[in-house]
Amino acid sequence: MKNTTEFNIVSIREDFPILNSKVNGKQLVYFDNAATTQTPKVVIDSIVSYYSTLNANIHRGAHYLSQKATEAYEGARKKFQKHLNAKNSSEIIFTSGSTHSINLVANGFIGLLKSGDEIIVSHLEHHSNIVPWQMLCEKIGAIMKVIPMNQEGELIFSEYEKLLSNETKVVFVNHVSNALGTINPVKEIISKAHEFGAAVLIDGAQALPHFEVDVKDLDADFYVGSAHKFYGPTGVGILYGKEKWLEKLPPYQGGGEMIDEVTFEKTTYAKLPNKFEAGTPNISGVIASGIAIDYINNIGLKTILKYEDALLKYATEKLLEIDGIKIYGNTDNKTSVISFNLGNIHHYDIGSIIDNEGIAVRTGHHCAQPIMDYYKIPGTIRLSLSFYNTKEEIDSLISAIILAKKMLS
Ligand code: ALA
Repeated sequence: MKNTTEFNIVSIREDFPILNSKVNGKQLVYFDNAATTQTPKVVIDSIVSYYSTLNANIHRGAHYLSQKATEAYEGARKKFQKHLNAKNSSEIIFTSGSTHSINLVANGFIGLLKSGDEIIVSHLEHHSNIVPWQMLCEKIGAIMKVIPMNQEGELIFSEYEKLLSNETKVVFVNHVSNALGTINPVKEIISKAHEFGAAVLIDGAQALPHFEVDVKDLDADFYVGSAHKFYGPTGVGILYGKEKWLEKLPPYQGGGEMIDEVTFEKTTYAKLPNKFEAGTPNISGVIASGIAIDYINNIGLKTILKYEDALLKYATEKLLEIDGIKIYGNTDNKTSVISFNLGNIHHYDIGSIIDNEGIAVRTGHHCAQPIMDYYKIPGTIRLSLSFYNTKEEIDSLISAIILAKKMLS
């Protein structure tokens, strides 16, 4: 983006080469941002530049390139520390994505929990914040309880309070639902859990692209995200963990870099963050993710949120003008996602016609089957917004839906 003082949509769109593409002979309209965001040129360039000028393994070599690559990699860690307002940069662990981050934590808790301990999940979770914990329950006999949701797509806080007890050891909830866009009251959820001494993991995959997150203010014990959902490359995840919890958790994977000393009798582990970063990490991806954070901050998350909220309002109003549209998740407290169906038409059929018009949306259960079960539907059409989208693109989507309706009714 050339203009850093005001939101210039033309300039912003120029930053994303893919937005100029044609799909099925039509101008691409990309509304699948909750699945992955597109990549600005500065991020793409940083990957090319890394492999053209800096490529070396980190933390290992005394040579120039290794030192420079290490500096850039650790520089990215500091950027994330600052971005999330973590106390220490050693509380930022790089993984391959949110799913990896959650598995790392859930796996660590296998060693800390015992049979009969209780863990609490929300009904609004992505499968990646359900299944790793179910695996933990199966392994050690812990009990999973579920915070119920209501028709508006909100968690029922009073029911959550009833689930908490001295047996509760971990609570895991997303900050924003990927399927409905609901923003959950995570600060209150964390505070309540802490009254019972439980740790809380927040899945921030759908929050980090849209608004500021302050892990200290939230008092989150763990907070996870995926770089490819906030304009970085695929294959990079963030795990923030409070030092006291990361010290308690055993390492997830063994290998190089995560050790202090290895003998055939015994291995001692490295200090944080290396204890959780076995093997050669995605060095170029981590550095590029730091560039993505710079890019977002250059626009400003407050500006991004304001623009995306206006788009969300516009899209919601326009969709509701179409007879037969039903939107799932109608809380006021939501961001950038609209999940909907049109009459009894199968979501997949509408998705195919929309795709034919060059418009990318996601159809299906969005890896959140319990939410679909709650509404007794197999899936939805999901529109998910970014700051590079425009009202004109929403108009194109509306026209495509009206076309689909004519063809399929
Ligand atoms: N979690 C991603 C989505 O919601 C893949 O589409």
